[in-house]
Amino acid sequence: MTISNMNQEDIICKVLVFNSDDQLKSIELRYEVLRQPLGLDFKRTDLDKESDQIHIGAFAGNKLVGVLLLKTMKDLSDDILKMRQVAVSPDFQSKGIGKKMVQFSEKWANQNGYKIIDLHARKNVVPFYEKLGYHVEGDEFLEVGIPHLRMIKQL
Ligand SMILES: CC(C)(COP(=O)(O)OP(=O)(O)OC[C@H]1O[C@@H](n2cnc3c(N)ncnc32)[C@H](O)[C@@H]1OP(=O)(O)O)[C@@H](O)C(=O)NCCC(=O)NCCS
Repeated sequence: MTISNMNQEDIICKVLVFNSDDQLKSIELRYEVLRQPLGLDFKRTDLDKESDQIHIGAFAGNKLVGVLLLKTMKDLSDDILKMRQVAVSPDFQSKGIGKKMVQFSEKWANQNGYKIIDLHARKNVVPFYEKLGYHVEGDEFLEVGIPHLRMIKQL
């Protein structure tokens, strides 16, 4: 499958097993899309702490083209999931893959008893989440050196 003959239906989302080949590839994708452009890297200790998070991958054939993490907020509430590290491979952006991953995550959250998804959106991506039913809560703040807004969706 090439990008030009790819359809939305060809994109499959699934939960990745921590430390599997696909999950390790997803770290490379997160680095390429989210960290390298800001001149940042991951710390091994932070990546190890993600063992209890839900790692979701989007695949075009067997190529990993998107990633998204869900983190439980058990210390705060059993109802809330934090969505983080949402990234689509540059060549595959604007083809509905981000939307498909968010919708897959919401289905997973629903099936697992969560009621709210909470996230920190980069300011320039706020319209993407708004289209998916998230709303801004509170004021702008800096994270990884760039403006962010907290966004929430009641499932
Ligand atoms: C943001 C990102 C995850 C969106 O995924 P995507 O696959 O490119 O987006 P989709 O094609 O699913 O877009 C869904 C809708 O949101 C819109 N949209 C996507 N990104 C947008 C943006 N930055 N600003 C405005 N609208 C946007 C699309 O136009 C589309 O609208 P439509 O449904 O009316 O056609 C992806 O572009 C990405 O990885 N960007 C770089 C990393 C990043 O900023 N991650 C988010 C950190 S909070």
